[in-house]
Amino acid sequence: MSGEPLDPVVVGAYLAPHHHELARAAASFAATALRPLPAAQDDVGARRQSREILGLLGEAGFLGHAVPQAFGGCAAGPPDLPDLRACCVLREVLAAASPLADSVFALQGLGSLPLTLAGGEAIRRRYLPGIVSGQVMAAFALTEPEAGTDAAGVRTRAVRDGDHYVLDGGKHLITNAGVADYYVVFASTDPAAGSRGLTALVVPADTPGFTFVRAQVLSEPHPLGEIAFEGCRVPVSHRLGAEGEGFKLAMRTLDRLRATVAAAACGMAARALEEALAHAQERRQFGQPLADFQLIQQKLARMATELTAARLLTFRAAAAADGGAERVTQEAAMAKMYATEAAQRIVDDAVQIVGGRGVLMSHPVDRLYRAVRALRIYEGTTEIQHLVIARGLLQ
Ligand code: CAA
Repeated sequence: MSGEPLDPVVVGAYLAPHHHELARAAASFAATALRPLPAAQDDVGARRQSREILGLLGEAGFLGHAVPQAFGGCAAGPPDLPDLRACCVLREVLAAASPLADSVFALQGLGSLPLTLAGGEAIRRRYLPGIVSGQVMAAFALTEPEAGTDAAGVRTRAVRDGDHYVLDGGKHLITNAGVADYYVVFASTDPAAGSRGLTALVVPADTPGFTFVRAQVLSEPHPLGEIAFEGCRVPVSHRLGAEGEGFKLAMRTLDRLRATVAAAACGMAARALEEALAHAQERRQFGQPLADFQLIQQKLARMATELTAARLLTFRAAAAADGGAERVTQEAAMAKMYATEAAQRIVDDAVQIVGGRGVLMSHPVDRLYRAVRALRIYEGTTEIQHLVIARGLLQ
């Protein structure tokens, strides 16, 4: 067992040969194109660098894995859905090298999957080729100040006016706010109907009435922020699926993306283990390498075992989806819940092993420590994953 991303002994049973080829190509890209990039120091730097990374990922051909073959994406996988194992392979390798690059790839998936699942031909043709090339950046706008975990509580309104919807309201904690070219917006077309009153609309960033309000600054630089709609007119042709089907579309999208969040957690944990192993073998204290101390060995053993378990759950969920399972709600919730919690412990142990140097902002484990925390919250908190799993058991 090593800390290398995608140990074939561990996940081989779930992968096809082309996934291993993809892992090798992505690891080589990460080493040459991503690891040398200077870490973004602030929100402005993260915004600039996320567009730069998008271009690099597009040129290298990796963004094609966010879109199925039928709509211009890569040939692997089911014809009308992205190959989820390929997405997980990429998120694991990218997250190990650069949490920002992982986020850029993830949002191309999160912001394009609703179009793939429920968009009309014209809207898919307009946006999906640009998602693949990296010329178009996507965002997924569900969360509001009063609607986070309770996603059905969205207050942004969409009122039908002839062949348009008029949007009023606002969203916050939106990744790519202010840099995206379009937003998949979940708005209420029928407030009395709760989750059955939500409708998904594609809102281009240059639509009059749409504004980027302000950045929301994270400890690990990330392009996050608030957006608002005021009399923002969006053609009915930009609706994804039927009116009132938005909540289910959001949940179907999250079911697939949650497995990839687990993969990103595995990537961060794998990098943390790699850093911890290297440091434990090099660093000498009391006349011997740290790795000779049994308390350090115990940590390393636990980190490697938890990472292995997390990978197995992750690729099991992705393989079930690629195998044609109608829903992978349970599998994805188990993978996200376990992998993100385990990654937090693994990264924390890595910081402990690296010691004082591990809390310097310039050290990779400090960056991972700041980046890994959000994974237990976004796309459904750990607590929500517990409820989803228990609900499935008790049904
Ligand atoms: N797939 C398809 N349909 C689903 C579904 C799924 N996974 N989950 C629920 N549904 C359907 C149900 O069948 C039900 O349909 P009917 O109305 O026909 O009966 C409908 O949706 C409502 O479902 P529930 O009654 O189960 O909804 P609920 O309100 O009780 O609970 C929840 C849902 C699990 C708590 C859900 O709200 C949830 O997952 N919350 C977390 C939200 C979340 O993940 N937010 C993250 C924001 S996005 C983000 O984080 C992006 C980012 O940072 C980059």
